[in-house]
Amino acid sequence: MDFEALFSADARVMQPSLIRRLTGLVNQPDVISFAAGSPSAETFPYSRLTEIYHDLATVEKGRLFQYSVTRGNAELVEAVRERTARVQGVAASADETMIVSGSQQGLDFIGRVLLDPGDAAFVEKPSFPGGIDTFATYRARLFGVTSHDDGMDAEDLARRVREARAAGHRPKLVYVIPNFQNPSGRLWSLERRRALLEVARAENLLIVEDDAYGELYFDGVTTEQRSRLKALDPEAPILYMSTYSKTLAAGLRVAWIMGPAPVISRLVLAKEVGDLCTSTLSQKLTLEFLRRGWMDEHLPGVRAFYQHKAQLVDAALHKHFRGLGRWTPPRGGLFVWVELESAYAIDTWPVLEASVAEDKVAFIPGKPFFVGGVGRHCLRLSYSNVTDDNIDKGLEKLSRRLRAARESVV
Ligand SMILES: Cc1ncc(COP(=O)(O)O)c(C=O)c1O
Repeated sequence: MDFEALFSADARVMQPSLIRRLTGLVNQPDVISFAAGSPSAETFPYSRLTEIYHDLATVEKGRLFQYSVTRGNAELVEAVRERTARVQGVAASADETMIVSGSQQGLDFIGRVLLDPGDAAFVEKPSFPGGIDTFATYRARLFGVTSHDDGMDAEDLARRVREARAAGHRPKLVYVIPNFQNPSGRLWSLERRRALLEVARAENLLIVEDDAYGELYFDGVTTEQRSRLKALDPEAPILYMSTYSKTLAAGLRVAWIMGPAPVISRLVLAKEVGDLCTSTLSQKLTLEFLRRGWMDEHLPGVRAFYQHKAQLVDAALHKHFRGLGRWTPPRGGLFVWVELESAYAIDTWPVLEASVAEDKVAFIPGKPFFVGGVGRHCLRLSYSNVTDDNIDKGLEKLSRRLRAARESVV
């Protein structure tokens, strides 16, 4: 049978994620991998989750493995609302809140519910490929918006919106990650946050605010510096998303979306046909972890774990990467973004192949994070899964490899 002829138009535009394609290459056991972007399993509270599991199984028996309601377990929704209001400063009613099986699923439902082929969606340069690829799957026209160390350039956003309209694309949404972005680690300034809110309001754009890393801040970053857009302007049309993947355990697949009730109810319909409900077991484990007050006790250790690694990476970059490129010292999250001197036109993609094959050091080249095929001279370093001892060693080797690549270009 000709299976190609069977595929739908949507399926035909699906592309394997470049990063996932790299996985086989970069996840070999003898490779020092700055590539794996997943949180460290060392930070997952294994004993406490096991204790909760035993307690729940004893009391709930078979109910622990039953279906749940599509919008999310009502008690979990309450616990999430309480904590998000208290810690993230984002208030939402139960009608304005839903649980999803990971924010990646949330992004998919947002694409499904809001984007028709040809609609315009705006993303940072660089941005999270999970967002870019999802919106592309719904055949949206993606526009990359210039972004600086302190956030998205709102004037450029306004320009891109005009450009989209002039080309016949209907501007629908802007997708942003203002706190410790994947891949750049950037923390937006308050001015840039306010400027985005203003342009989005003027241009009638829905904001998708992805706050996957906002709780993983390091010492010295104030609550005000992490102000969520939805907290700064509670009335603005914003879909605020966050996840327990980085703070509790990624495999539980528990995340949440808060936004205008009419949009949330459509997203719940998408979830009804998407997966019926998020795992009851995962939701109850998460609920009980929150109820016992363990999240607030657990997070300082997680932050300290990543801050320590980030400091080692920053120190190693100072030692080995001087004159090679620039980076912003990480202030939270899991990533450091390096921009090599563009004058040398080093393409980091072929460098990766040689680096893995010969030096056994992996990273992610910049290209998959950009709309429009730019960013070849950039690379993302993730420090979550590299042992302390290997950080300096790996970055020293990588700096040598990059210097050699620079010489061959010159
Ligand atoms: C910015 C961003 N959003 C969403 C996700 C997906 O997270 P989840 O595990 O909740 O699906 C990730 C995961 O890497 C991410 O970096």
